[in-house]
Parts: sequence; structure tokens; C-alpha cells
Amino acid sequence: MVSATFYFPKGFLWGTATAAYQVEGNNTNSQWWEWEQQPGNILHDHKSGLACDWWSGRWREDLDRAVESHQNAHRISIEWSRIQPAPNRWDESAIDHYREIMRGMVERGLTPMVTLHHFSDPIWLSESGSWENDLIPNYFEKFVGKVVDALKEYVSSWVTINEPNVLLTFAYVLGQFPPGKKDLRNAIRVATNMINSHAAAYHLIHKIQPQAQVGIATNYRGFVPAKPWFPPDVWVARLQSRLFNDLFPVALRDGVLRFPVTVKRIPQAKNTQDFLGIDYYTCDRVSFNLFKVGEMFGRRFYPPDADLSDNGFIANEPEGLFTALKWALQFKKPIIITENGVEDSDDHLRPRYLLQHIHQLWRGVNFTWPVKGYFHWTLVDNFEWERGWTQRFGLWELDTETQARRKRPSADLYAQICRENCISSDMVSQYAPEIYAQMFPE
Ligand code: GAL
Repeated sequence: MVSATFYFPKGFLWGTATAAYQVEGNNTNSQWWEWEQQPGNILHDHKSGLACDWWSGRWREDLDRAVESHQNAHRISIEWSRIQPAPNRWDESAIDHYREIMRGMVERGLTPMVTLHHFSDPIWLSESGSWENDLIPNYFEKFVGKVVDALKEYVSSWVTINEPNVLLTFAYVLGQFPPGKKDLRNAIRVATNMINSHAAAYHLIHKIQPQAQVGIATNYRGFVPAKPWFPPDVWVARLQSRLFNDLFPVALRDGVLRFPVTVKRIPQAKNTQDFLGIDYYTCDRVSFNLFKVGEMFGRRFYPPDADLSDNGFIANEPEGLFTALKWALQFKKPIIITENGVEDSDDHLRPRYLLQHIHQLWRGVNFTWPVKGYFHWTLVDNFEWERGWTQRFGLWELDTETQARRKRPSADLYAQICRENCISSDMVSQYAPEIYAQMFPE
């Protein structure tokens, strides 16, 4: 049997990623909290409730879990609605609370990466139009200044906006996130406001902390032509990728927002990413369909033999991660995988998903591509937005009734990967023997 070990560079960041609204609990000042109360918005009308109860202090035990599993970094987010519950009020005790968490991370040997906006807005902001309001760059800049000033002692790695492409699509085009809008024309305004907000934050953070590393996390989705020999499928897959994957990173490189029929210059956004954050989960097959106008002429689907997650939400497509890395090279910046993971309550799929994706990551590393870190989504099962509690992405399982955690086998696997800074054929034979022959062919 062939055996091998694939090492990562010294100092590689290994961690998990979380988002405030999904783990803290009782975020009653967020627009998501209001959205949850309206029947039909969240699957089975689930409520975030206590979530993982981090705000009451369980962040400590969960970050201890991260440390026990040899992680050396953690991506966390800050809840704007806690820091600024009203337009003219800063909650200093919430700021102190976050300072304590950041100190807790540093003391545990976890390098913090902090996301400043992860889908959740204060209610007062949503009442004034959130991302449709042209004043949002000013509001965001003030909030960011307050946070960065307070946390700069512990943090120098910042994600301004998590997945602006997902936020734009789900909140303003598909209507599945608050405010539930379905208005493609409005999307240009929203995207412009996001880019302006990022740019304002980028410049301000560098003013406060010149050594800061600032970027966004883009959700990169693979779009593979259903019939690679059929030009319309190839064309539509490219179009979808340009719209979903390229829109924001290109705007932040060139200072130009390119929509299908509109081009907008935003010069202050030019060259405002210090690293490329990539959230990668899966790939679609795309076939050309003239009647899918709203979906940009593409029918998207998973192939019939796809290796699917519990709810069919994610197809295990590890090579898409390699494609994402290749795509990211065009930006000539360090690359960080800011999220990657799978919903899998009984952990039958996660071990192979994890090994196969980290294998693809290693292929990039082996070409000396500038990949600096990997954050698995996620540490403990959490509230998955419009899908409520139906999807379980945690290395640890959460019982929402009792708040008890139970380790899944993948947590042990990930601990070995983090400790040894590699993946090996031994790990594959122990945790995912079914892929051994494919990963280590004779
Ligand atoms: C991402 C999002 C995360 C998490 C994850 C898994 O799009 O940033 O907050 O929900 O998907 O569903």
C-alpha cells in the first residue's frame, strides 16, 4: 500500500470559524431576531434562542475545546447590535466583554481573526434601510473605528464584511435573509454601499493599526458546465462565476464594480484587500436554460451521483477548492480559507470531506501558492440562519435543550491534522478508509 504524509508550512493557521449571531444567543437587538419571530422565515420556525450560549460565558469552554484540539487560530465575529444598540449609544460593557473574549483567545494561544459584519444588523440600522441606505458607509466606519480601537491590542487580522456576495443574493435578490427583498435593480445600490463601507473600513483600520491585515470573506462557489463540450453551458457557467465569485474581489482590486449592464467606478475601493478570504463549501453543475432569466440563464444542480450532505445542501466536491485557490491567485495576495465544512449530524461524511478538502489545499501549498490558513466551519453546531437548527456543521454536537456538547470523531481527526501540521495516509486509513485507494493510488 502506498503511504504518504503531506505537510503544511510552519506557522500555518489552523482554526475554526464562528459568527456572533449563530453562537452568542439572545441577540435581541439584531434584525435577525425580529425576522425569526415572523412565521415562515426560518425552517420549522426554529429560533436561535440561547444559540451556543457564548454570551453567558460558554465561549470559554468551547475555546478550550479548540485549544485541546491543537488549533492555533479562531475566526470570530462581533455583533454590531450589541456594541451600538441605538444610533447614539455605545454599550461599553459589550465592548469590554469582547475585549475579554479576545484576551481569552490570545491567552489560549489562538490567533484571532475578527469579522466585523456577519449578516446581522442592529434593528435601528435595518429600520433605516441597512445596506440600501447610502449613509451606511458612515455608520459602518464609526462602528469599525470603535471596535478596532478597543480590540487592536489583541487583533490585527480583520474581515470587514462576511460574504457580501451571499448577503447581496440572499437578502436583496432571493429574499431569504432579512429584509427579504427581491429586487435585482436595487442590488447595484446595495453592492455599491457594501464596497464603499468596506473601503471606508479598510482605510480607517490601517490608520489606526498600520500593520493590520484587512479583507473580506468571499463565498466561492464552483460553477462547472454540465456539458463541458457545449459552448452555451460553458458560457453560462462563466457568467455565473463572474457574477457571484468575481464581483466583490475584482471591485476591491480595481475600484470598479462590474454588473452585467452597468459599470461603476469606486476609486477609493481600489487595492483594498490585504488577503483573499475564501469560504468554500461546494460546486454546482450549470446548464444553459433560456427560460431561467432570473437565474441568469443557468439551471444549477448537483449530479445524480453526488456525495451529498444530510439535507442535500452540500455536495462533496473537493476539487472545487483547488479551483478556488487557482482563481484566487489572480489577486496576488495571501489566501486564507475562512470557512469550509459540511452539515453532517452523524459524522459519516465529514471525515472524508475534511481530508479531501485539506488534500486539495495541500496541492496548492505544494505549488508554493501563498495559502496561509484554514478555518473549519464550525466548532460546535450552531444556528444556521434560514435553515435554523436543521443543519449540523460542528466538530462538536450541541444539544440545544441542555447545552451539552459531544465530540464527533472529526474533532479528533482535525486535532491530529492541527497538531501534526499535515494530513497522512494513516489518518485516511483510520478515519476515511473508503477514500484510501483514490487518495493514494498504487
Ligand atoms: C456561510 C456563512 C456561515 C454559515 C455557513 C454554513 O455562508 O458565512 O455563517 O452559515 O455558510 O451554512
